[in-house]
Amino acid sequence: MGKKVIGILVGSLRRDSFSKRVGAHLSGLLEERYQIKFFDIASLAMFNEDLEPESNLPQEWRYFRQEVKNVDAVLFITPEYNRSIPPVLKNALDIASRPYTENAWSGKPGAIVSISPGPSGGFGANHHLRQTAVCLGICMMSQPEAYISDVSSVVDEGGVSDEKTQDLLKNFADAFADWVDKLAG
Ligand code: FNR
Repeated sequence: MGKKVIGILVGSLRRDSFSKRVGAHLSGLLEERYQIKFFDIASLAMFNEDLEPESNLPQEWRYFRQEVKNVDAVLFITPEYNRSIPPVLKNALDIASRPYTENAWSGKPGAIVSISPGPSGGFGANHHLRQTAVCLGICMMSQPEAYISDVSSVVDEGGVSDEKTQDLLKNFADAFADWVDKLAG
């Protein structure tokens, strides 16, 4: 049997995004055990119900929905925008949640890491994402939680540089691997 596939969604399009660097670090921790797929959510047209009929459906939506269906688990790395998640991430969640009867997220094991340059560690984004995830039937790992605060002092151009944050992410990745293996058996 091949390796299970973990899909990673990063809630930032910024070139030098801290979230992207944390995502790359987590990918490195998980890639021995799993196949890792980074989803491209930047190219998804903004959700609009008028585009839902088959004749109007954007190709990239169709492709993305299938890609989400194909992975065994999903891992979200997100910054906080105004105490919630960035629109690019909500857009991706909405697109693959449709049509209503074919919600691609349903039943997938998932986990969230939130980041912030401030002290909150993206708590607001983390929990808004949990709220949507519950609605979509994603089985979110509840513990350990991962809020990375003061991110600019623990992540630099080379990646996650701070030892305590490396330990936190290692512990998180190990727990997520157990969660995935238990649920996506
Ligand atoms: C922010 N930022 C921010 N930070 C935070 O801790 N709480 C917040 O509510 C917000 N709100 C917010 C709104 C908008 C529109 C922007 C652009 C930014 C700061 C944000 O966390 C910071 O820019 C991160 O570095 C963005 O993540 P990436 O791009 O580094 O992954």
